[in-house]
Amino acid sequence: MSIPVLVARAVFPQTLERLRASFDVRHNADDTVLSQDQLIEALQGRQGLLATGSEKVDERLLDACPKLRVVANMAVGYNNIDIAACTERGVLATNTPDVLTETTADFGFALLLATARRMAESEHFLRRGEWKKWSYDMFTGSDVHGATLGILGMGRIGQAIARRGALGFGMRVIYHNRSRLPEETELPLGARWVDKETLLRDADHLILVLPYSAESHHSIGEAELALMKPTATLVNVARGGIVDDAALARALREQRIAAAGLDVFEGEPRVHPDLLTVPNVVLTPHIASATVATRRAMAELAADNLIAGLTGGRPPSPINPEVLRRGR
Ligand code: DGY
Repeated sequence: MSIPVLVARAVFPQTLERLRASFDVRHNADDTVLSQDQLIEALQGRQGLLATGSEKVDERLLDACPKLRVVANMAVGYNNIDIAACTERGVLATNTPDVLTETTADFGFALLLATARRMAESEHFLRRGEWKKWSYDMFTGSDVHGATLGILGMGRIGQAIARRGALGFGMRVIYHNRSRLPEETELPLGARWVDKETLLRDADHLILVLPYSAESHHSIGEAELALMKPTATLVNVARGGIVDDAALARALREQRIAAAGLDVFEGEPRVHPDLLTVPNVVLTPHIASATVATRRAMAELAADNLIAGLTGGRPPSPINPEVLRRGR
């Protein structure tokens, strides 16, 4: 009898076909976001879950689904999964690193350009039919080339953004990360580690690429925004909750910083209402990794992980490999 698994959201038909060749697949084909109770119900007796960031895998779910052995997240971020609880129960968790690094860095940079050069605001102005004449100071923004790029969180995506900034736009790159990168990684990026306060004070453009955790919750709030230059832009392509969105909306309204570009939000898909009414913010619906090729690669990697994890192979990207070492 084939192993029962749940695919919690719609995925590419090819990915589904591959999974169906290995497993007895229950698929949430209409792509509704399942409530926790619905998810638990759908997982009964199932050994594998292909999840996205929308499904919360916590102690309650794990205790209610004792047959579960592998959770394959179709995302690099995994703050939706309680990894310690998984490890304790011998449940393998996997994610999709690397395949989305360059695509996400492209988007981070696009959002930085759109924010600094006021693209969304000026496009709305044009669409509203308000463009009557050219003026010397119409939608003047701030330069990206040659400016100081600050990066908070210098993992794979942070480094890919640094490369774009340093090599493509001649930017001076400073970063803050818990641990400093080895010199041989820093050198080609021209990147310099600084403390968080220096990062906030010196960056012309600050981009956030750190993972979400209790520790990084509201890493950017009132106090941090107060340290930034009034001309600075802030971009978040990491996770909602890293920025205190209410504090950011106030800072934008009072022009304590110049502008922000946000792809992720606290409590998304809800967006703080004050962010919807300030003009100097570019808002996108968590699409930094959304190219066809990259989403395909993420789905395939999640499927690879699920198949290997449940059939005795070597999952390519385990988050808690100790579960494999321990044997289950
Ligand atoms: C990720 O992979 O973590 C992206 O944010 C998509 O969820």
